[in-house]
Amino acid sequence: MNTRQTAALQLRRDIKGIDRKVPVLNRRRSRYVYLDNAASTPPLKPVLNQMDEFWNWYSGVHRGTGYKSLISSRIYDESHEIIARFVGADLERDTVVLVKNTTEAINKLSFRLQLQPQDIVAVTAMEHHSNELPWRARAQVRYIQVDKDGLLVPDHLEQLFRKYPSRIKLVAVCGASNVTGHINPVHRLARIAHSHGCPILVDGAQLIPHRRFDMKPHSHGDHIDFLAFSGHKVFAPFGAGVLIGPRSAFASGVPDYQGGGTVKLVTSNRIWWADPPDKDEAGVPNVGGAFGLAATLKYLNRLGMDQLGGYEEELTDYALEKLRATRGVKIYGERPRVGVISFNLSDLPHALVGAVMCFEAGIGLRTACFCAQRYVRHLLGLTENDVDPALYESNRLDKIPGMVRISLAPYNTREEIDILVKWLKILNENKYEFRRRYKFSPQFGGYWPVGLDENAYFNLAGVSL
Ligand code: ALA
Repeated sequence: MNTRQTAALQLRRDIKGIDRKVPVLNRRRSRYVYLDNAASTPPLKPVLNQMDEFWNWYSGVHRGTGYKSLISSRIYDESHEIIARFVGADLERDTVVLVKNTTEAINKLSFRLQLQPQDIVAVTAMEHHSNELPWRARAQVRYIQVDKDGLLVPDHLEQLFRKYPSRIKLVAVCGASNVTGHINPVHRLARIAHSHGCPILVDGAQLIPHRRFDMKPHSHGDHIDFLAFSGHKVFAPFGAGVLIGPRSAFASGVPDYQGGGTVKLVTSNRIWWADPPDKDEAGVPNVGGAFGLAATLKYLNRLGMDQLGGYEEELTDYALEKLRATRGVKIYGERPRVGVISFNLSDLPHALVGAVMCFEAGIGLRTACFCAQRYVRHLLGLTENDVDPALYESNRLDKIPGMVRISLAPYNTREEIDILVKWLKILNENKYEFRRRYKFSPQFGGYWPVGLDENAYFNLAGVSL
C-alpha cells in the first residue's frame, strides 16, 4: 500500500457512519455507497469525539467573563487562525469571517463591496447559482466563456477587460466546477485581474475539499484576494463556512447584518463599528461550527492534503475509465477535474437513474442541474429557448433536462465504483422493466418504486427526533 492509499484508508476508517447499511428493495440491506460528496461530506469520528469533550466547556463567546466563556472565546478565535493557515491566508492583512456556508459568504461579499448598478462582475459560464445570482442582484454580470466541453477559456477574461475598461470591479470564479469538476487556473486568472487593478474571488466550495490550496502572499501577482468555502463539504460538522479577504475590505462600510457583537460604541446618532471580523459576525456565533471546521482542517493536514488529493485523482481516473467502458454512458467534461463526474445513461431520465441507484443499489448520488442550470444547458447543447418554465414550476424532474452526478472523496474506493458501474449496466440492460417498476411522484419530487410503502420504508432507518 502506498502513502496515498494509507492516508485514504485512515480517512475511511474515521468517517462517521461508514459501515451503516441502508434498506434496498427485496427486504435486503446494503452497505451505503455515498457518491454525493459535492453536496455534503460525512463528519469524522475523531473530530466528533474531540467536540464531545469541547461541549463540556462550551459557553457564549466574547461576552462572558466565566472560565468556560474564556476558554470558548479563545478556541473560537484560534479557529480563525487555523482556517487562515490551511489556505495560506495572511494573518496580518486578511480576516476570516465565519458564516454558514459558501452561499452566505458570497452574498455577504456582494453586499460589502458596495457595487454600483453599472459596475461589472466577471463570472465564468460554469458558476453555481451561488456565485452568479448575488452578483446579478447588485451589479451587471459578464460571463467568461467556456468551450464545448465546458472548460474555461481564460483568455476571454482579457478580452472582457479590454471591452469594458475600468468597469469590471471583481472577477468571481469557482476553483472547481460542481458539475464537471473542471479545475480552473485561478492564479492565472488572478494575474490577469490584477494587471487591470481588479480583485478576484475564488468560490472554493468544490476545490478546497480536493486539493491543497494556497492564496499566496499579497505581494504575488497571482494572489487570491477573496476566498469562500463551506465546512460541510470538507468533512466538518455543524455548519460553518468561511469568507476570507483583506481586512481593509471589511474595515470600511457597514455590515449586512447589524446588532450584537458588531460594534464598539453606539450613541443615539452614531455607530462605531467593531474591527473585522467581529463587525461581520453579528449575533452569538456558531462556536461549535468553528471548532468542528478548525479541528477537521487540522485532521486533514495531519493526513496530508497532497496524499488525499493524489489518491482521489487515481480514483477519478479509475471511475472515468470504468464509466467510459459502460454501454450507454455519456460523460460531460474533460480533464483537469476533481472527482466530480456528470453523465447520462442512454435515454433514461436522470431522476430514474438516481432512484434505481438509491432503491436497488443503496447508492447516494445527485441528479438534475446541480444549481448550475446555465452551465448544464450548455453541456447538453440546449439553449434558453428549449426551457419550459412550467416543468420547473411543477417540479417535473422526470422531464427537466439534466444529468446524473457522482462526486468522489478520498475515502471512496474502487469497489464502490464497481458497484455503481454494475448497477448502471443492470439498469441499461433492463430499461423497460425499470421504467415499469418506478413511477414519477410529483409529491415526492422523484421516482418511487411501485408498491413501496413510504412510511414503512423511512421507519427502517430507526432514526427519529
Ligand atoms: N452545491 C452543492 C452541490 O453541487 C449542494 O451538490
